[in-house]
Amino acid sequence: MDDQELVALAKSAREKAYAPYSHYDVGAALLTASGQVFTGCNVENAAYPMAICAERTAIVKAVSEGQREFTAIAIATRDGGSPCGACRQVMSEFAPHLRVMLADDAGHIRRFTLDRLLPESFGPESLK
Ligand code: THU
Repeated sequence: MDDQELVALAKSAREKAYAPYSHYDVGAALLTASGQVFTGCNVENAAYPMAICAERTAIVKAVSEGQREFTAIAIATRDGGSPCGACRQVMSEFAPHLRVMLADDAGHIRRFTLDRLLPESFGPESLK
């Protein structure tokens, strides 16, 4: 699974987005250490705060299937938008050094590691 393939899966997942309120479709493709991919999209709700982001959809799908080791996530939006703080925190719980790729419709990919997007994070170690 190379980066381009992971981005393509995130773009496919974005087609499933349910975002009738914001009209901001997001798709995510999360790569596990064992090479599996879990995808997710944002799912909004008429009660606005109930929306869940694409990244957390993918993480929750993976963890609920027994996977907790992640190496990369591709996130696809029209403009290469950056993940929200809640998603950074949830990704960091399992993979503080996760590779994060932000893809837009023009074919650009911006690459980060999660510790750069969420420095000095609070995590499992903080509770020991
Ligand atoms: N959204 C995501 O899916 N991921 C993010 O990290 C940022 C925001 C979604 C939530 C909502 O459905 C829409 O984008 C606009 O905020």
